Amino acid sequence: MPEVTDDTPVHLTEVDVDLDVQEILLAASQHDNAKLRTLLRNQTTLPDAANVKDSESGFTPLHSAIAACERDTESNETQNGASSEVTESNPKGLDTETLKSAVLTVKFLLQEGAIWNDLDTNNETPGCLARRIGALELYDLIVDAGVRAELLLNRLDAYEELSDGDEEEEKEEGEGEGEAATETETAPELVDASAETAASTATPANPDVSNPQYLESHLNIQNDRILDADKNGVMMEWESEIMRKSAKALLPTPGLKVLNIGHGMGIVDGFFQEQGPAAHHIIEAHEDVIAEMKRRGWDSKPGVVIHQGRWQDILPGLVAEGEQFDAIYYDTFAESYGDFREFFSEQVIGLLEQEGRWGFFNGMGADRQISYDVYQKVAEMDLFEAGFDVQWEEIAVPKLEGEWEGVRRAYWVVDDYRLPLCKFMD
Ligand SMILES: C[S@@+](CC[C@H](N)C(=O)[O-])C[C@H]1O[C@@H](n2cnc3c(N)ncnc32)[C@H](O)[C@@H]1O
Repeated sequence: MPEVTDDTPVHLTEVDVDLDVQEILLAASQHDNAKLRTLLRNQTTLPDAANVKDSESGFTPLHSAIAACERDTESNETQNGASSEVTESNPKGLDTETLKSAVLTVKFLLQEGAIWNDLDTNNETPGCLARRIGALELYDLIVDAGVRAELLLNRLDAYEELSDGDEEEEKEEGEGEGEAATETETAPELVDASAETAASTATPANPDVSNPQYLESHLNIQNDRILDADKNGVMMEWESEIMRKSAKALLPTPGLKVLNIGHGMGIVDGFFQEQGPAAHHIIEAHEDVIAEMKRRGWDSKPGVVIHQGRWQDILPGLVAEGEQFDAIYYDTFAESYGDFREFFSEQVIGLLEQEGRWGFFNGMGADRQISYDVYQKVAEMDLFEAGFDVQWEEIAVPKLEGEWEGVRRAYWVVDDYRLPLCKFMD
């Protein structure tokens, strides 16, 4: 590689760098691991060689390695002209030899610190690309890399909060998961502040607003939706079927005690009421929602007890009073995955009957299939660590075109909702 000195003309340096980038991308696309190893480990001008990008396509080495397995759209042939039998794990009959060599290259790149969720100019992560072309084994590798990265980042966040001691200040500064992630200096191979990545997804609607900001803002409450001051969808009517199924799964018979966290449009609470609960506690933190609840007579419905405030402030009191529930549902807004994990690992144990069931609105990462898959696994592992078994029921979500008019961003893109039902492990 040519040496770069202070006297090197800038345009020449750029050309050299671009040549280096192209060489890496080419080796990745040829699944030439020996060459890749030399290029990645001997680079002097490219500090993060596993994450270089083609300036036009935005392809990283991971994108290139995966794209090489794709069928040519015109000839319908794979890169080396070969193809294989269509199977469940190879639904498009991609050439298995090419796939095999791609697996080794993708594994190698991930070991070298390739970022799992870097976006190309087509707004695709390497995993999105693998899924689209039908390279499902490669997709699974990227999902697993995403799980490892997110688990580590979540642990680092928790560790930073603990080690700093000044928890309140820390929380206010880094409320969004993404911020915490990109500020983490101890895992440079996983995060790159300059890279445009698919956001690590933490909240159902993942808005750019913290929980305290949201709670202070004014809401626009309509018949079929609640929007916050920035037009983020807080709750929408299309979620009704999900709420109905969640309520029935959690409260199968009358006469049980239920706790719902986050009233929103009252949809799930309406379904809980239909099940005839003996007691129905609702925690709601937003003043506008509380006012609307009262206007609709929720304070005089059978068994209903309204707790006004954040669950973080209300739940310790309920535990101290010895309240226990047969069912608990969690669906808040503008909270991080860390908040959610705190909820289930520290609060549920004191509130749920031994044979009780609890659930949550599973919207984490739902604006991109791979993020949804990653966060399902992350949650499953954390739930297991906290002592819970989880079963998932898949529900098809109707097409939501037209739903997002007037809403800042579509927070639901994936086809199927995975409804969680959690219980204490045997
Ligand atoms: C998505 S909505 C809930 C929708 C509800 N499941 C339904 O069926 O209509 C979220 C609700 O959680 C409330 N919320 C947000 N943060 C909260 C917190 N920390 N504690 C309690 N409620 C909170 C919001 O004000 C909002 O009403």
